[in-house]
Amino acid sequence: MKTQIFKINHINQNEEIQAVAKILRDGGLAAIPTETVYGLAANALNPDAVNSIFKAKGRPNDNPLIVHISEIDEIYPLVTSFPDKAKALADAFWPGPLTIILPKSDIVPKEVCPRLETVAVRMPSHPVARAIIKASGVPLAAPSANSSGLPSPTKAQHVIDDMNGKIHAIVDGGESSVGVESTVITLATDVPRLLRPGGITPEQLESVIGEIEIDPAVLDELPEGAVAASPGMKYKHYSPKAQVYIIKGDFPSFKCYVEASKQEGDYALCFSGEEEKLTVSAISYGKENCPEEQAHNLFSLLRELDSRGAKRIFVRRPDPHGVGLAVYNRLIRAAAFRVIEMPKIYGLTGQTGAGKTTVANELVKKGWQVIDCDLVARKVVEKGSPALPKLKEVFGEDILFPDGSLNRKALAKKAFSTEEGRQKLNSITHPAITKEVTRQIIGEKDKFPVFVIDAALLSKSEMYHYCSKVIVVVAKEDVRLKRIIERDSITPEQAITRINAQPDEQYYRSIADVVIENNGGGIDLSDIF
Ligand code: TXA
Ligand code: MG
Repeated sequence: MKTQIFKINHINQNEEIQAVAKILRDGGLAAIPTETVYGLAANALNPDAVNSIFKAKGRPNDNPLIVHISEIDEIYPLVTSFPDKAKALADAFWPGPLTIILPKSDIVPKEVCPRLETVAVRMPSHPVARAIIKASGVPLAAPSANSSGLPSPTKAQHVIDDMNGKIHAIVDGGESSVGVESTVITLATDVPRLLRPGGITPEQLESVIGEIEIDPAVLDELPEGAVAASPGMKYKHYSPKAQVYIIKGDFPSFKCYVEASKQEGDYALCFSGEEEKLTVSAISYGKENCPEEQAHNLFSLLRELDSRGAKRIFVRRPDPHGVGLAVYNRLIRAAAFRVIEMPKIYGLTGQTGAGKTTVANELVKKGWQVIDCDLVARKVVEKGSPALPKLKEVFGEDILFPDGSLNRKALAKKAFSTEEGRQKLNSITHPAITKEVTRQIIGEKDKFPVFVIDAALLSKSEMYHYCSKVIVVVAKEDVRLKRIIERDSITPEQAITRINAQPDEQYYRSIADVVIENNGGGIDLSDIF
């Protein structure tokens, strides 16, 4: 079948509108723009035309369709009653992204709502959609115009990608403004029930009709064998070809997760401004606090990432409130309910002798996991670790004992004698330390609410950017001197050399979110919690 493409930007394009209306009246299929997503329309009163929608989309035949009208009054023939609450919702939100389910009348063929006594009705606000419905003179059944299972189309090109050659016409009316499908509410239950969140929020609905219930399928996976109030909810949905994962947590922990598990073909779908802070390929789907923008971009970007060949997509979790509920609802389905919860990651740092360990011990008492990077640094150069052959390559055979294990003194002598040596050493050990620390965090992420990375040189490491809070421990210089002389049995001169090799206190304070004074006596940790 040859698919005719119409470009209709304005309702004064009467010739084109009439041509599309005729295709629909004659039982044909036409994809039309709406403010939510593109719809695949057919005459709702013609069972054969309706059946052909299911065929073109590859849609399971028990998944009912929404009937679209151009004026409120057109609902009366379709339903057996139009209760006050429905009328109030229609008055408040039509034309617009709201679908209302009511008991159906006999003129609605069973093909539209298989096995149901109800029908879903919506009056879209897109002027071209309304003009086409009006010109057709019949209500139009229209699901989203994607191949079943794929993300819904928000641009004519998406429809062309999925439907070219399978339907009679595609109307290009520009980008859909909302970007996710309409809110679906049923008034065929005792208490009105939200079946699918969309551009009209639960708060907006409640402000008009009072209490509504939210169907459990909105946020959670239906248990095996459960009957879906909205049959569409039970199907795999909105899925790009890539595997989608939602990461719950703040940006630093998101960065930690995606960078630590990085593979070829990975993409991050993040919030505006975060793209440039990530070392994996990243696209923003909107500002963190703007769910409307996220909704507008989501489906289009999922398709875009597929076309770039993405294998896995890690998504920053949207705040599931307001329109964000719709964004989250679509994303968890796109992700097949794979949500990875990341703990918080804090950094603990400070000059030698400042008393980090005392603070660390207190944090452990809270049930937090402290990762001591001095221990990790030792671990990553153990015999058999991948860092050891690299050190040997750079610093020579004689940094190893005859048994192949590391001779620390020999290495220190070589590496610390020049700045270049120190840098070379760090360029081998730091990535290895980061890898090991993130491996521990991700491996045990479900066991602790907070991980604390304890590292004197935290700010020089990539791990610094994984910390949502940096705790700096400070103490007066004489206190620190005394501590390290006692702790490490060294001379005052040696202690001073060590202290001078580190950045000064001012520097540490400048990177701190929280400063803990630890001069002995009590420590006040209240700012951490
Ligand atoms: O924004 C939209 O609603 C778009 C545009 C094209 O208008 N249409 C759309 O249609 O999203 P579709 O078919 O992709 O989604 C319709 C949803 C499905 O989840 C379906 O199960 C539910 O509405 N639905 C339709 N009739 C129903 C009924 N009588 N009872 C319960 N759920 C119904
Ligand atoms: Mg759909």
